[in-house]
Amino acid sequence: MAESMKGLKRTHRCAEITTADIGACVTLMGWVQKRRNLGSLIFVDLRDRSGLIQLYFEEETVGSEGFEKAGTLRSEFVVAVTGTVERRSGAVNDSLKTGELEIKVQELRILSESLTPPFPIDSDITVKDELRLKYRYLDLRRPNIQRNLIMRSKIATLTRRFLAEEGFLEIETPMLTKSTPEGARDYLVPSRVHPGSFYALPQSPQIFKQLLMVSGYDRYFQLAKCFRDEDLRADRQPEFTQIDMEMSFVDVEDVIDVNDRLLAFLFKECLDVDVALPIQRMTWQEAMDRFGSDKPDLRFGMEIMDVSELVKDCGFGVFADAVKNGGVVRAVCAEGLGDVSSKKMKRIEKTAKDYGAKGLAYIQLKSDGSMKCPFARFLSEEELAALIEKTGAKAGDLVVFAADHFKTVCDVLGALRLKFAEELDILDKSDYKFVWITEFPLLEWSQEQGRYTAMHHPFTMPMEEDLALIDEQPGKVRAKAYDIVLNGTELGGGSVRIHQNEIQEKMFECLGFTKEDAQERFGFLLDAFRYGVPPHAGLAYGLDRLVMLMAGEDSIRDVIAFPKVKDASCLMTNAPDVVDDKQLEELNIAVTPLTQDDE
Ligand code: AMO
Ligand code: AMP
Repeated sequence: MAESMKGLKRTHRCAEITTADIGACVTLMGWVQKRRNLGSLIFVDLRDRSGLIQLYFEEETVGSEGFEKAGTLRSEFVVAVTGTVERRSGAVNDSLKTGELEIKVQELRILSESLTPPFPIDSDITVKDELRLKYRYLDLRRPNIQRNLIMRSKIATLTRRFLAEEGFLEIETPMLTKSTPEGARDYLVPSRVHPGSFYALPQSPQIFKQLLMVSGYDRYFQLAKCFRDEDLRADRQPEFTQIDMEMSFVDVEDVIDVNDRLLAFLFKECLDVDVALPIQRMTWQEAMDRFGSDKPDLRFGMEIMDVSELVKDCGFGVFADAVKNGGVVRAVCAEGLGDVSSKKMKRIEKTAKDYGAKGLAYIQLKSDGSMKCPFARFLSEEELAALIEKTGAKAGDLVVFAADHFKTVCDVLGALRLKFAEELDILDKSDYKFVWITEFPLLEWSQEQGRYTAMHHPFTMPMEEDLALIDEQPGKVRAKAYDIVLNGTELGGGSVRIHQNEIQEKMFECLGFTKEDAQERFGFLLDAFRYGVPPHAGLAYGLDRLVMLMAGEDSIRDVIAFPKVKDASCLMTNAPDVVDDKQLEELNIAVTPLTQDDE
């Protein structure tokens, strides 16, 4: 039977007790980690969010009833104990913060019992994700997940403190709103009062934060929930949190400066890591050329090399034709992978193809001095030697080549570079390499839609020096947009916004919006801009991604209390779910049953 805690008040959390408390009488409350019976002694590890402490029961102190009760304790029972802090009589447990101590219990109350949990509450257990998420409330008891959420809370608190000190105001923006242009699908919420009309949940507070600048709030921030209906990956959730900010009367430099200092502050306070300021910067073009990615992982080299000049007239059609057709031939040299098996080589080729390569030319310089190069027969000995020399490869190295359009070559070699690093196991999670990527292209061509789309969003300011290109070569215009990248993950992104109507109209024109379309979707923003808009700029981080990297986790699910799985469902609540006919009726919604073809 569950007992009451009446008359008892907790004095400490378990792992807060130190040697300074020896001799003191304390009251602790928490969960039973495990019980061991040693005849006349019963040992129990008690757990709460601070950690564990060892309790011991002997009949003489706790009484016969208490001793008997202690014998019934099982894992995850919730108990309250009062007892004396003592130095451990047995061996000290170095792996515990309280490893030198134990509590001699005088009173025990069982506050609630527990079923046997479907998995032990322990950091290092391997449990299937499905089971963990179905019983998320138990999974959340595991110390490693608790550590992550405690760190998340700390990061949020420190962020608020830092930004408030920098003059930012925390202002909330609506969840029930109109579509925001961040490029994903919207989650829609039907309106009961306006049958047939829908709110969209915000993909970001973008438009509202710009309006707050029009309204004179000068510096805004928010830890904002955002919703995007897109394909999920390890670093994407349908609902996630941004550290979102906007500033008035600023340019790129000012946004980068505040955020350099914010990151340095968070890393120092949370991890005692010194981030060297200023954080380095790299243009988008340089990042693509050297690393094949706009979110380069700078923890290792293996940079991409251009060999187009060398091979443009060679006898290997794949190379020569790529250059003739306006493409490029580039290479990556993987130091130390020259001896990979043909099976592994096939897998590397498969990765290349997954990223759009038509094939993968390679040179394997084996450690024994021999060479494997399927295209060697198309080149003269001198040509091959020159190619190897250019890539700097030596015995024991593997060189891979991609010949295609610029974008495909970047995608393929960028992905292979990461695969090689993984293969060589050279990535250290506690080596934090930040970089700002700047001067992104303003627009990117969408094959699917047959038009340009905004690379960031339609309110991003083109670079002044490129404005003249906007009519003739819109694809060449660079934007005042920037991303902050950490160890190959895009942590955040932002831009200077357009505040001149003529440029905004031009931008909409490039994106294929008619004046009416633009007015219909963003009319309230365009109207607001006619009443005195300050130049402004901003940025948003993915808070979940930031916490993931700071906590050394591989998935944002491990830093979100109640995350969703790949198909955007919640295994614990079973959301999304069907609703009552009555609710649908009220909302004026008719659901068409799925046929097998639809599924
Ligand atoms: P953007 O779309 O680049 O910019 O988003 C900013 C950051 O939010 C994080 N993020 C996500 N995190 C988890 N799951 C997702 N599905 C997801 N999508 C994005 C990323 C990303 O860098 N309004 C602009 C910002 C601005 O211009 O100020 C915006 O939302 O870490
Ligand atoms: P093929 O002439 O198509 O048989 O290709 C000869 C070699 O070049 C094979 O090893 C292919 O994998 C490789 N290859 C084909 N297309 C490309 C490409 N676009 N870039 C790099 N290598 C390629």
